Amino acid sequence: MNARNGRVVGWGTYLPEKVLTNFDLEKQLDTSDEWIVQRSGIRERRIAGPGDTTSSMATQASRAALDKAGLAPTDLDLIIIASSSPDHLIPPVSSQVQYLLGAVDVPAVTLSTGCTGFVYGLSTAYHFIAAGAYRTILVVGVEIITRHLNWQDRSTCVLFGDGAGAFILQATDEPCGLRGFVLGSDGSLSHHIIIPAGGTAEPPSLEALAEGRQYIYMNGPEVFKFASRVLGRSSRQALEQAGLTLEDVDWIIPHQANLRIIQAAARDLELPLSRFIITIDRYGNTSAASIPLAWVDGLESGRIKPDDTLLLVSFGAGLTWGALVLQMAPA
Ligand code: UT7
Repeated sequence: MNARNGRVVGWGTYLPEKVLTNFDLEKQLDTSDEWIVQRSGIRERRIAGPGDTTSSMATQASRAALDKAGLAPTDLDLIIIASSSPDHLIPPVSSQVQYLLGAVDVPAVTLSTGCTGFVYGLSTAYHFIAAGAYRTILVVGVEIITRHLNWQDRSTCVLFGDGAGAFILQATDEPCGLRGFVLGSDGSLSHHIIIPAGGTAEPPSLEALAEGRQYIYMNGPEVFKFASRVLGRSSRQALEQAGLTLEDVDWIIPHQANLRIIQAAARDLELPLSRFIITIDRYGNTSAASIPLAWVDGLESGRIKPDDTLLLVSFGAGLTWGALVLQMAPA
């Protein structure tokens, strides 16, 4: 098998119908549209409905991607699901998606690196293809992070939203695929984004529930500082590895956590904001789904074109980070 480059052959999304606007939040919380827009750039977000699960959302996005690629589920060689909000702790949500898709006996793995999950997953997929191990790989970023939110905690609940984005890579010998990458992790900062209870360190208990320790805690200002540093640094490292410069990049697709973080990265990289794909106003922070959702937005709006060079860059719980330099296939 000689074809070792990964070509994007399909993509799809699933966004829950329910839209929660800042004005809706104003009615239930001591917050305002003005504060949320000024501090984060978010105007509205999607909230999963009672019929949605992480696996059902991932499956719907994946079906759309398979349709676009003209592939059957059994054509897949590997399924990678990036998520921090799986249906259950056990079993892995990836096996549920594999079953719901009808991808009989296809290997499936769940990858959990917070909001950086899709970047880790995509990089893994490209490397499996480069090694000649697999030809056709589905990578999904999916979250129902809103079910882990404390809706009384205005410092977190206004920021997040739900969604799923799926991409299919296929081996090709065309000039495209992964050009450079960097992945990183610094667990000494793990306490800055954490769900304290529910795992083995602090099993579920009435005390934990009473204290709300089953919800996401986030030290926003510390994560903000970290993100502002790491986005520019990892972007430069991935470009250097690719032997490219920022001038070679057509689009930057950053993790959509906060418009001010994206603006800080743009200042750091000395680039205009118009070079970034931005969806945070409509979807909020969808964690591992944010980059695939933004990527699809860029493709379907016609901004991202064949042969374009993309820089995907993310950070998240862990704390983790990652940047990939990709080249879209020729037309
Ligand atoms: O993808 C996962 C990674 N997560 C992130 O990237 C999040 C990174 N951090 C951030 O995006 C920002 O730190 C936040 C948007 C979370 C907060 O913005 P900030 O400018 O850092 O605000 P702050 O936390 O320093 O809070 C400023 C003030 C506080 O009031 P006082 O103490 O100055 O009186 C907060 O109580 O804003 C208050 N505040 C709010 N006010 C109205 C916090 N949340 C809200 C709110 N509405 N929703």
